[in-house]
Amino acid sequence: MFQLAVLASGRGSNLKSIIDKLHLSNKNIKITCVISNKKEAKALKIAKKYKIPFYLIDENRYNEKEYEEKLIKTINLYNIDLIVLAGYMKILSPKFVNSFKDSIINIHPSLLPSFPGLHAQKQAIDYGVKISGCTVHYINNKVDAGPIIKQKAVKVEKQDDEASLSKKILKYEHQLLPATIELIAQGKVQINKYRTVSIKE
Ligand code: GAR
Repeated sequence: MFQLAVLASGRGSNLKSIIDKLHLSNKNIKITCVISNKKEAKALKIAKKYKIPFYLIDENRYNEKEYEEKLIKTINLYNIDLIVLAGYMKILSPKFVNSFKDSIINIHPSLLPSFPGLHAQKQAIDYGVKISGCTVHYINNKVDAGPIIKQKAVKVEKQDDEASLSKKILKYEHQLLPATIELIAQGKVQINKYRTVSIKE
């Protein structure tokens, strides 16, 4: 069994796509816990609905060190194979990243390395790019800069604004993230020496 911990801070639509496409449909892959840093995160309600163990580690209650200690302790309650950041809007320390080396992935709503950080879709609109998209990548010690596993391009039309582009990209996020997790679970993804990633499909 390939076991996932999903970290999410908000709406939880990417979590829901992993539940539908993997947790409920692939007997070899299970979400064993959902963890959020935000008490209002809808992701926690989704986990509850599907009877997945869920944890709130309220970032307002702890300093950074305490927060991460709790996070590591919670993840270590399980035998986690992969940590999935699905709309997790908090930067992880090098200590955390090194503790789970090459076992943390993130979905980001742009074609990295373009538009890292917050409001990626607005950055793309403001810059005037004609193509944007989404990226699933491994986490390293720089924000949104780890080895890229999969990307999907989305056309930016002249009438698009931040909201419409976000909606278009999100639709592809919901396909790309579960598909990438499945490839990793099947042992088909390998990080090479110089940050590139090979996939046996
Ligand atoms: C998604 O668009 C995800 O790519 C983005 O937050 C949204 C979360 O939606 N993540 C980032 O911007 C990370 N830098 P969700 O809560 O409905 O999955």
